[in-house]
Amino acid sequence: MDLNVKHGDSDKLRSGCVVVGISAPKRLSAAAERLDKASHGQLTALLKSADIDTDCGKTTLIHSPNGKVQASRILVAGCGKDKHLAPKDFIKIAAATARTLQASRVTDALSYLTELDVKDRDLVWKAQQIAIASRDVVYRFDELKSDAKPPKKPLRRLSVAVSSRDHLDEAKTGVANGVAIANGIDLARTLGNRPGNFCTPTDLAKQARDLKKAYSELKVEILDEKAMEKLGMGSLLSVSRGSRQPARLIVMQYQAGEKSDKPVVLVGKGVTFDSGGISIKPGAAMDEMKFDMCGAASVFGTVSAVAELGLPINLVGVIPATENLPDGDASKPGDVVTSMSGQTIEVLNTDAEGRLILCDALTYAGKFDPAVVIDIATLTGACIVALGNHTAALMSNHQALADDLLDAGQIAFDRAWQLPLWEEYDEQISSNFADMANIGSPGAGSITAASFLARFTKDYRWAHLDIAGVAWKSGKEKGATGRPVPLLMQYLMNRLEA
Ligand code: BES
Ligand code: MN
Ligand code: ZN
Repeated sequence: MDLNVKHGDSDKLRSGCVVVGISAPKRLSAAAERLDKASHGQLTALLKSADIDTDCGKTTLIHSPNGKVQASRILVAGCGKDKHLAPKDFIKIAAATARTLQASRVTDALSYLTELDVKDRDLVWKAQQIAIASRDVVYRFDELKSDAKPPKKPLRRLSVAVSSRDHLDEAKTGVANGVAIANGIDLARTLGNRPGNFCTPTDLAKQARDLKKAYSELKVEILDEKAMEKLGMGSLLSVSRGSRQPARLIVMQYQAGEKSDKPVVLVGKGVTFDSGGISIKPGAAMDEMKFDMCGAASVFGTVSAVAELGLPINLVGVIPATENLPDGDASKPGDVVTSMSGQTIEVLNTDAEGRLILCDALTYAGKFDPAVVIDIATLTGACIVALGNHTAALMSNHQALADDLLDAGQIAFDRAWQLPLWEEYDEQISSNFADMANIGSPGAGSITAASFLARFTKDYRWAHLDIAGVAWKSGKEKGATGRPVPLLMQYLMNRLEA
């Protein structure tokens, strides 16, 4: 879908459909007001007869409007009663209108949702959210269907409209940001949606090389198992020995900031399939463990969006990629392995493999002299028990970094919620046979997992995002969400402004 920006009056611009907001009970936005006049009061008449639903997120499509309206249709977005919209309601409205446009086979539309008054958010934000929400609706994953047919009349073009020329620049900035972020989200979704046999560690490494071809500011290095062995990554390699697919450590360096700027390092869990290993998982929904590389996918999405926007920052993406399978040579419960940091780990459960690969990647991340390190991982089922599917869990050894990530999540509406990292939790991972165990005593599974990682991140500012509950949806809508690309992009953009 093509997204662009237009300025002009809502009644005068031509399009397949013009989108305007109306609040309950009968408060017309300026663009709706103009359409009402040009159509000789058609909107007010339909409001009077209750044929327009003004509940927040409801839409009403009007075909062949009366009078001089230049658009072939009007789509009224119900905006509810509030004078100032909550940001999440604005996103809901943007998504609902995109869904209706797509379902009504409108191919080009013009959206004046930019005019709605949103609490604490500016035009750049609104334009950005319209772009992201619309692209979300038209996303498809059909590369593995033999008879993939594109929809007959897809939404091909959406113009984000402003009435005044003065607002054009802000709208353009918002749309450009939104398109780059949407491309990053799409990439993360597509990598996540690919099944394990189409998304191996080697495939992810190829993805990194493809990104490098597209962006000259990117440097890519792929470490194979031999190189990891040399570095002493015994913990990461203890996971991959259970699989015939060789592990890869993927390193992407984006350098467009000052040479002296310390980089932000993103570390993404890239378990391309997690069977649990010898501590094998039950069969139900095991297919969903193809999504266990969604942390890695979010790093790809973020790096590509940053490169597309050409943000003047230094960013490093580190992805430990492996399968977790139960081969005859696989690690066994009770095995003790030595991490790159020198610390030894008793593997009490081979299904707690995420932390085993992340710890070595986090030690490796230290070599970039990072400003901050953020790891993103589908790390624990306990995270879903604690927080459900609405928010990621955030844990950090540096409160200012945690606050910045929480803020970014609020603005992007891709939220995180902080959990404590107290030393009482750290005590839960003690071992009689090694420096630590890879699982904690019962309780607080997400925090004990983070406590494990914290033992490898003492040299720098670090935050951990457990995205087990938000990285994909189950059931009828099964598929990767692309989260937390929006949060990470917002964090990086905020950081640039500060
Ligand atoms: N990838 C899983 C975590 C997961 C499970 C995410 C279900 C989303 C949905 C992780 O590798 C894992 O298996 N964790 C174990 C840890 C346990 C053995 C301490 C878990 O959560 O059960
Ligand atoms: Mn596991
Ligand atoms: Zn896992």
